[in-house]
Amino acid sequence: MFYLPLKPTTPFTFLNSKTLTPPNCCKSQPQTERGVSFDAGDTFFRHESSTARDLAVLSAAIYKKSHNELRVLDAMCGCGIRSLRYLAESGADFVLANDANPDCGGVIAGNLERADAEKKRWVVKHLEANRLLTECYLERDFFDFIDVDSFGSESSYLRAAMSAVKLDGLLYVTSTDGYSSGGHRPQQTLAAYGAYVKHMPYSNELGLRMLIGGALREASVLGYHVVPLFSYYSYHGPVFRAMLQVRRGKFPIKRDYSFISYCIQCGNSRGFSWDELGQMRCSCNDIPGSLVVSGPLWTGPLHKASFLTEMLELAGKWGWTDDRTGKHIETLLKVMIDESDPVLPFGYIRVDEIASRAKVNSPPLISLLATLHKEGYAATRSHIALNAIKTNCPMVECVRLVKEFHSMSADEKSHGLIEA
Ligand SMILES: C[S@@+](CC[C@H](N)C(=O)[O-])C[C@H]1O[C@@H](n2cnc3c(N)ncnc32)[C@H](O)[C@@H]1O
Ligand SMILES: [Zn+2]
Repeated sequence: MFYLPLKPTTPFTFLNSKTLTPPNCCKSQPQTERGVSFDAGDTFFRHESSTARDLAVLSAAIYKKSHNELRVLDAMCGCGIRSLRYLAESGADFVLANDANPDCGGVIAGNLERADAEKKRWVVKHLEANRLLTECYLERDFFDFIDVDSFGSESSYLRAAMSAVKLDGLLYVTSTDGYSSGGHRPQQTLAAYGAYVKHMPYSNELGLRMLIGGALREASVLGYHVVPLFSYYSYHGPVFRAMLQVRRGKFPIKRDYSFISYCIQCGNSRGFSWDELGQMRCSCNDIPGSLVVSGPLWTGPLHKASFLTEMLELAGKWGWTDDRTGKHIETLLKVMIDESDPVLPFGYIRVDEIASRAKVNSPPLISLLATLHKEGYAATRSHIALNAIKTNCPMVECVRLVKEFHSMSADEKSHGLIEA
């Protein structure tokens, strides 16, 4: 993976293609994604990011349907696969496909010609993303949908993108810095996203919350706020992505932008508001040093359920839920919808952590969910971690229930499952 410096020595200088060409590019070969043919050439292209592209294409199409217009700026487009799909599938009226690497130009143009051979609905540029976004803002050339598929914890584009997107428009942002969101470089996350992030068991969710929180901070400087329509973690990379709607008006900072604590001693997590900064303790009478705190981060909902439901319906209409690949997006969207339950707190709990605290073998995830539901708790899977749950049940209670489950006979266990 290669990184652009957080702060270029000379802003808006041209970066030569050598700097920008990652070491592990795919070699040229014709490919298809959701039936759309394209050529990746020697550009940076990852097949594993196809789900992230599916989610983007669905969102753009929904935007187009409700706003009747869709002008897209694809700021780091690689071979232009997203730009092509925005034209071919989302019904984009216009796409500005940009990649700072001029060597990608031929491949991008060749791909976009597949959707519009007359070149009326697209242009290709090779500018540094910040420069392009700032120029668009200065020329009052605003876009409905801006996609910035960046590397590492590069976040300097956030403010420029926020300025160039229309109000109520969508901004698709990325971070690939799993090392920092894992709490290994709090100085780095502080510099990039304004959040001091320490290691917590649900660090991949923190990565999403850090990205959204950083965007919210930039938006509030301009008098705007953002609403996450969906947040998506993918372990290939890893990659953290969020689809944000940029709205007018500052966000009431006290709500949904605060501090998250995890108690090593009892395993409980909770949020602390800005007013409670001096009073951070766990209710288990934690011993000094057992409370790990990260923040400020986005602590509100990761997704907007109504938007995800529209995405799921559209995916169905497009036949994406019928095939084997499609099943994946259907399952993903359904889990995300479940995760949007407003009573669920931030974070997820790994079943193994509960079992280890209970000193028993891990129960099957499905049995644990059924038990929690039976006890009246909200509980669901997490799209981020396979063997983990999101629940409003405190850890101590989870441990008790898992112990109880462990001591049940096989008959009682299957009966419990059927009842639930
Ligand atoms: C992750 S790849 C893009 C992949 C593409 N969006 C896709 O879905 O296949 C990032 C691209 O951004 C370009 N890039 C890196 N830094 C840039 C910058 N500051 N401005 C513009 N383009 C940049 C790289 O040349 C690379 O092609
Ligand atoms: Zn505690």
